[in-house]
Amino acid sequence: MELIYVDNAATTAISPEVATVMHQTLNSCYGNPSSVHAIGRTARAKVESARKFIAHKLGVLPKEIIFTSGGTEADNTVLQGVVHHLGIKHIITSPIEHHAVLHPLEHLAQQGLIQLDYVSIDSDGTPDLEDLVRLLTRTSAPKLVSLMYVNNEVGTILDIQSIGRLCHKHNALFHSDTVQVVGHFPLNLGDLPIDFAAAAAHKFHGPKGVGFMYARSKTGLGSLLMGGAQERGMRAGTEAVHDIVGMEMALKLAYESLSNDTTYLKELKTYCLGLLKEKIPGISFNGASDNLEKSTHTIVSLRLPIDKKKAQLLAFHMDLKGICCSKGSACQSGSETGSHVLQHLLSERENESPSIRLSFSTHNTKDEIDTIVATLVEYINS
Ligand SMILES: Cc1ncc(COP(=O)(O)O)c(C=O)c1O
Repeated sequence: MELIYVDNAATTAISPEVATVMHQTLNSCYGNPSSVHAIGRTARAKVESARKFIAHKLGVLPKEIIFTSGGTEADNTVLQGVVHHLGIKHIITSPIEHHAVLHPLEHLAQQGLIQLDYVSIDSDGTPDLEDLVRLLTRTSAPKLVSLMYVNNEVGTILDIQSIGRLCHKHNALFHSDTVQVVGHFPLNLGDLPIDFAAAAAHKFHGPKGVGFMYARSKTGLGSLLMGGAQERGMRAGTEAVHDIVGMEMALKLAYESLSNDTTYLKELKTYCLGLLKEKIPGISFNGASDNLEKSTHTIVSLRLPIDKKKAQLLAFHMDLKGICCSKGSACQSGSETGSHVLQHLLSERENESPSIRLSFSTHNTKDEIDTIVATLVEYINS
């Protein structure tokens, strides 16, 4: 059976060019970038050339890109770093952030190190800017706001310009989890009112276990990990040279074909939405996921018009039919805790219907969409 992979917001298949360059680097470039001899210097050159390339693509300075093990480490380094190194005492976030943001913030609040506030959001997943201003003016404590650019479950795109400007107007630093943005949207971090951002290579056909943090220079952020002085003291530990080189190649390929890929994916998502609406009367979409202006072209989060009992075997059925997608709602088989994002965006009643996230890459085709929709229809009618 041919598998259909529509879980690209979870991770993407590695590009062959990326795997090749990683393999070559592993074989030929084994030096420690911190060693001063020739073999070490070769590795250092590869790391610095990747840093320069990535910084250039994102409109920032090379020293503002710090390599990490992925999105989680980048988010943690920023959020824990601003508290421990920059004296931030008040953090505002939203209840629908990724756990890589929510869990460190909950931990900091539990330790009594920060006051933590959650901005109100509407059913699309968009924060209420009036509420944000209310929270920003609530205390005079040094503040940071953390709001993700694109939501990884429902795909909502935030107006990062307006949010960042508001934060800066009220003297708050601004961190945005850009994990679902880097490699998928044009992104000039230097032009945006963002102080910190996070990326993970495996979301844009790069290797797993590598990513980067953007930290605007002069913010004074320090390292989360204690050890060596790598990454200008911002991230201790020997750099994973082959991963970094693989990420550079993945980013290069992603931005070379960005315009064509975006057109392709917008068309694919439009086709998918149209077919779902035609074949499944009563279907609903979570967040703004059926709106191509407000949500990313890579994600459709749908809710089926079936009840809790009927929903029980849905995930099993999709898997059995070779469709690899993510489930979302609180009430499905195999889901112990459900999605905190959907729990927040949906009413209790809405959350009783099963949700599924389809997330696309250019490897997906309209034929695959036909099969997915037919499989859903078959399940509903069974
Ligand atoms: C929005 C967002 N932030 C952070 C992460 C965590 O990234 P990583 O798995 O590279 O640590 C993910 C991955 O699922 C994500 O989608």
